[in-house]
Amino acid sequence: MLILLKFCIKIIYYNLIMLNNKLYIKTWGCQMNEYDSSKIADIMKKELNCKITKFAQNANILILNTCSIREKAQEKLFHQLGRWKNLKKNNPEIIIGVGGCVASQEGEKILRRAHYVDIIFGPQTFHKLPRMVYKVHKFKKYLIDISFPKNEKFKFFPPKKTTDVSSFISIIEGCNKYCTYCIVPYTRGKEISRPYKDIILEIKNLSLQGVKEIHLLGQNVNSYNYKDIKKQDYCNFTKLLQMISKIENIKRIRFTTSHPQNFSNELINIYKKIPQLVNFLHLPVQSGSDRILSLMKRRYNVSDYIEIINKLKNIRPNIQISSDFIVGFPGETRKDFYDTISLILDIDLDMSFSFIYSSRPGTPASKMKDNVSISEKKERLYLLQYYLKQQTKKFSLKMINTIQIILVEGISIQNNQYFGKTENNRTVFFISNNNYIGKFINVKIIDSYLYSLYAIFISICKN
Ligand code: 5AD
Ligand code: SF4
Repeated sequence: MLILLKFCIKIIYYNLIMLNNKLYIKTWGCQMNEYDSSKIADIMKKELNCKITKFAQNANILILNTCSIREKAQEKLFHQLGRWKNLKKNNPEIIIGVGGCVASQEGEKILRRAHYVDIIFGPQTFHKLPRMVYKVHKFKKYLIDISFPKNEKFKFFPPKKTTDVSSFISIIEGCNKYCTYCIVPYTRGKEISRPYKDIILEIKNLSLQGVKEIHLLGQNVNSYNYKDIKKQDYCNFTKLLQMISKIENIKRIRFTTSHPQNFSNELINIYKKIPQLVNFLHLPVQSGSDRILSLMKRRYNVSDYIEIINKLKNIRPNIQISSDFIVGFPGETRKDFYDTISLILDIDLDMSFSFIYSSRPGTPASKMKDNVSISEKKERLYLLQYYLKQQTKKFSLKMINTIQIILVEGISIQNNQYFGKTENNRTVFFISNNNYIGKFINVKIIDSYLYSLYAIFISICKN
């Protein structure tokens, strides 16, 4: 009875008052932010009956999910908000919300420059958005919630409904590493591992809907460590991987991002036991110089990193490694930089991401003396990216004339060809009269571009 009453109140509370809601979400940043935005969409659809629109000018609720990891995040934010201010001038009923890492970092300060913003929410409070939107609508008063409630938001998300064959799932939030250049621990808070039972349940639900590939997400997935001390219930990352590998129909498991410090022998050895773990690993090293790694407080040195890769290659000779690099960290000499280039070649890295160091407010590195000129930084980035591109090309070219297994994900509107992904994360296009979406198929690679390949269909995989 009480539940029914609550349900009715909720209906009146939200839906009747806020009919015809059209939601526009703009997302900046990493896969985690994309994932968060998809959850925002789900919860807003469920609670406020929102329809998602692709155009800001059609919406009455505008949400900006921000990222502050690099560059001039604040300037970018106010620039975007300026455009939305004009929309609000024409329609004062529009509700504007700013979320994510810049919101978490700047909080109320955003309102000083953009008083027309209605809601400021953080990466851990976006489940409260429907209530916040409703309150702003009713009381015409701005609201801020950038707190870090532990694991609370996941309880509010409706079970995901999907037609995708590959799906992201967050397993751990926040970061405890405090690398000296990075703002994430301040904006996303301390590490919190989601209960493994919830993760398994969510993946089982996805698998029942046809999902075949799971991509585990977190700032540091391999420090996943769920503990319920009262119930003496514990689960680390390798145990979680083992449990996921037993879920029917989950044929591929990917994860990002992991940290070399937590890449234990236990985790390396699990590659022997779990064939679903793909032969592709994104393991950010950031620099090939021990001196810079120590200034970055990365907690490993170059030889530790190489040892992990060698051990993995012993178990999986064909595993391909991708990484992240920062160039022009304060005090980086030409020698440090060339050590990074050598590392790329020594460990034969595949496609990787690289960035110019960007000083982030409040981080220890922002107080370090930065004597590398911006033109020098740009030159180093250019050179580094040249080597990374050569590496990527080399791996892609090697695939020509080989048979690869791909999981077919969809059909491209651009070239009307089906596409799928190889284990080593390359998108493969092929022409077919049959619809193989959701199937693993064998294809023969016939042409290669930098990140994508073209192929002909050979056969459907048996399993
Ligand atoms: N400047 C440049 N790159 C950064 N990254 C994180 N913080 C910074 C910064 N302040 C990069 C790292 C990390 C990736 C997600 O972003 O390479 O692995
Ligand atoms: Fe940032 Fe370092 Fe944490 Fe990665 S491990 S999120 S780079 S602090």
